[in-house]
Amino acid sequence: MRKIYLFIVFIAILTLAACTTEPTPTQPIDTEPVESQPVETELPTMTLAELSQYDGKNGAKAYVAISGNIYDVTSSVYWPNGSHNGYQAGQDLTQPLLNLSPHGITNILRFPVVAKLADGE
Ligand code: HEM
Repeated sequence: MRKIYLFIVFIAILTLAACTTEPTPTQPIDTEPVESQPVETELPTMTLAELSQYDGKNGAKAYVAISGNIYDVTSSVYWPNGSHNGYQAGQDLTQPLLNLSPHGITNILRFPVVAKLADGE
């Protein structure tokens, strides 16, 4: 009887030990550092002359330059045919947006940046 009792205790200890050991990883852990690419480097550059073609008129896309970023506002219902409260897409509208609009910068940040304005423009 004592032998059976010892055997049961032994099995219980073995079972506990098996449960507490770390599972062996089935896949090797990837230790390679993730390369972080700044989004800016992937964007094309556009001059003001190129930007002027995206005025939203006659089916053209409506792009506006704000602080060096070019945003696509084509999908906005507030910019029909690239026009918005007396302003037309295809231009750098940084000054009117920041100094004259009632909403400031927040609205434009919802729209995708499609390009960067060329340096010095
Ligand atoms: C004084 C001139 C302007 C007025 C009175 C004006 C007014 C408005 C109003 C009433 C809206 C509707 C949504 C809201 O109230 O936030 C709006 C949206 C917007 N405005 Fe202006 N705005 C002006 C100039 C500009 C300029 C210069 C830009 C340049 C990018 C701009 C960009 C936008 C954008 C991106 C939206 C959001 C469109 C959307 O969510 O679909 N606004 N504006």
